[in-house]
Amino acid sequence: MRVLGIETTCDETGISIVEDGRRILVNRVLSQVPLHERFGGVVPEIASRAHVETITRMIEAGLADAGIALPPAGALDAVAVAFRPGLVGSLLVGVTAAKCLSWAWDLPLVGVDHLHAHIYASCMTAAGPAGAPLEEEELFPAISLVISGGHSALYLSEGWTRHQLIGATTDDAVGEAFDKAAAVLGLGYPGGPAISRAAEAGNPRTIEFTRTLFESDSLDFSFSGIKTAVLYAAKGQNAARAAPLLPGVRLADLAASFQEAVVDVLLEKLRRALRREGLQRAIIGGGVAANRRLRERLDALAAREEYRIYYPDLRLCTDNGAMIAGLGFRLLEEGVRSDLSLDADPIAAR
Ligand code: KG4
Ligand code: ZN
Repeated sequence: MRVLGIETTCDETGISIVEDGRRILVNRVLSQVPLHERFGGVVPEIASRAHVETITRMIEAGLADAGIALPPAGALDAVAVAFRPGLVGSLLVGVTAAKCLSWAWDLPLVGVDHLHAHIYASCMTAAGPAGAPLEEEELFPAISLVISGGHSALYLSEGWTRHQLIGATTDDAVGEAFDKAAAVLGLGYPGGPAISRAAEAGNPRTIEFTRTLFESDSLDFSFSGIKTAVLYAAKGQNAARAAPLLPGVRLADLAASFQEAVVDVLLEKLRRALRREGLQRAIIGGGVAANRRLRERLDALAAREEYRIYYPDLRLCTDNGAMIAGLGFRLLEEGVRSDLSLDADPIAAR
């Protein structure tokens, strides 16, 4: 079964064709970074306009990559689209395109939760130790941690399509904290990869940033404090963002210290969730799951505690249509269908 996956929740236009939920035939991602970088973050109105301008061409190119002529009679079996959560204007473009194609080509339509799809991405690798097992009974129940530009969320997962939210962000998402810290440090956008690169040459013990963990049983996240702490550590109290770095402060040390504090928080929350639920298996997804230091520390944690921790291939951590098509296939297998009343929903499911 071949599913066309459409992803437009934020600032990437993702078009993919996936066979049987796992085999990626096409995975095109058009990033809008050049449009947003001078603003230091995604501008919603610019994002939705850019999706409108590119989506038709992206779909045509994706189908051409797979050698599918139009209309794709028999060559496609369904259309899956990310319908929540995200920027409403961006979501609307993908959802409208998917509904049009489903209607015009008479194909089943399924709406996919973007955050659940980030979790699903962990099994979309060649079978082997790096990819989560496809068989649900080998993996679930598990704890899933989604860490992206818009969300930090912990789930108790019972299957690829069944996730119960057990911890969430109370203010800034973790990727947002990377982006804002990078902006303060003049490292550009998106901030995650830039901080990670800068941190390579730094000492993570230079500045002991406060790790906000809440009460000992809390699974919620807060990253707004550390972003202000980075500003003060870099430029002094009451400094403006544009001020120069304080004398003696090394950018690499700041980046490494920031990254280490964030990774500590993510690991501690994951450990708490695993302990509370009495589980040994975890799945990580979302753009921040691409972070090298995080992966190193997760691997060490897994080895020490005998956990099994899975994350996606690097190219499937950030937003893409493959994970939407993949999870769409699972939902369709379970008999889930959307109709033309499917609507964009900006809010994450509770
Ligand atoms: O999942 P994603 O592509 O979009 C959302 O659903 O939000 O995540 C994008 C986020 C950005 O905040 C970006 O800075 C962060 O993921 N990111 C990283 C890395 N690569 C991307 N953060 C830390 N280290 C990275 N290597
Ligand atoms: Zn995402």
